[in-house]
Amino acid sequence: MKIIEVRDQMEGGKIAFALLKDKLAEGAEVLGLATGSSPIAFYQEIINSDLDLSALISVNLDEYVGLDPENDQSYHYFMQKHLFDAKPFKMSYLPDGQASDLEASAKAYDQILEEHPIDLQILGIGRNGHIGFNEPGSSFEAKTQIVDLQPSTIEANARFFDNIDEVPKKAISMGIASIMTAKSIVLFAYGKSKAEAIAGLISGPITEDLPASVLQKHPDVTIIADEAALSLYKAL
Ligand code: GLP
Repeated sequence: MKIIEVRDQMEGGKIAFALLKDKLAEGAEVLGLATGSSPIAFYQEIINSDLDLSALISVNLDEYVGLDPENDQSYHYFMQKHLFDAKPFKMSYLPDGQASDLEASAKAYDQILEEHPIDLQILGIGRNGHIGFNEPGSSFEAKTQIVDLQPSTIEANARFFDNIDEVPKKAISMGIASIMTAKSIVLFAYGKSKAEAIAGLISGPITEDLPASVLQKHPDVTIIADEAALSLYKAL
């Protein structure tokens, strides 16, 4: 696991952008994308560049259950706004959180992932160590699944909604097993609220209680984090 300490998200975005260019030069065709505030500077770097993504495929990690893609809190909307409007891909897939049969929608997403193996997966991390929306306790063997969001995740994400009651309680997320199939992974973490999860990810036991700890088993992971997010790890 490679750990890169950066001053801020801007620097983190630039470093990840350089890594993306290397992967594209090596022939990467499928990007696994994430939402949340942490990857925004990276997407901005892409937007500011002359990179053409129109021959690439993107697959996103997760989506809330029940939100219309036009809803400005949906992850469909987030990706349009922060990347796809400016840099369209040949095809962009996100899980369908509005399907009447969610289990069938999860299976369909697994099929998409099988057809498009991920070359580079971008991740953020939840305060409780979740990746995608795979909350503590999620099986490492899981593929795309419907998840109940934990109260701490609902609370953390409430800042984007008018009030906490509007935050969906369920999501559809690529599973840990799907994430682990990516050839390379870059995880962004910024701020003190991520310090405990980052310490566990890097040097804690590999346990389903801290989903991100599974990344210790992956051969090509780069953690891009600021000093605050690395503070507890460095104090160990
Ligand atoms: C949500 C997303 C995750 C993301 C996490 C952290 O829970 N489902 O994919 O990593 O938020 O978000 P942020 O980067 O805003 O801290």
